[in-house]
Amino acid sequence: MVGRNVRGAAERLEELHAPIRVCPRCRLCQTRTHAVPGIGTSRAEVVFVGEGPGRTEDREGRPFVGRAGQFLDEMLAAIGLRRGDVYITNIVKCRPTAGDPPYGNRAPRPDEISACAPWLEAQLAAIRPRLVCALGRVPTGYFLPGAKLSKVRGRLQHRGDLPVLPLFHPAVALYRQDKRAVLMSDFRKIVRILDDLRKRDR
Ligand code: URA
Repeated sequence: MVGRNVRGAAERLEELHAPIRVCPRCRLCQTRTHAVPGIGTSRAEVVFVGEGPGRTEDREGRPFVGRAGQFLDEMLAAIGLRRGDVYITNIVKCRPTAGDPPYGNRAPRPDEISACAPWLEAQLAAIRPRLVCALGRVPTGYFLPGAKLSKVRGRLQHRGDLPVLPLFHPAVALYRQDKRAVLMSDFRKIVRILDDLRKRDR
């Protein structure tokens, strides 16, 4: 599973960004300002997968740049990591919107998720991370169909040979203090899980 030193991974990841930016595969391309491919290093041991870009991410073309993103950065710092050490992306690369302009955020629909999935899978194939952290219900359902986030959060799961750690979404933690504490404590488990996975892969 692990091949962070494979030459060409950075190029392969970068090469995916251009077609993602002009992707026409689903209706979300009609309302996007910018597609949001992802950010970070091809040598990431951990890939964080959120639900989909929000308003700020759509404007800037980068994932997790709003308040949820600030909290994600804080949690990364708490375990000694920076954005440049990991890779951050989403299940869908364009912002799902609802209603009339100015459009609110909504969860991605199943057909949008299936249309976008080949991009995520190609990103994972290029990076070959030790661990994927699924941020919230939508990415958890994608990697672990049928799993309930309330049952599996904070406990290491697997999709085939890919280790997946389901976590609450950082946005939920912004308005629920109880969930914020749970998320922070689950997040700290990443350190030990990575350690164990490194030993296993040695
Ligand atoms: N929420 C997400 O799931 N992804 C982002 O990029 C921003 C907010």
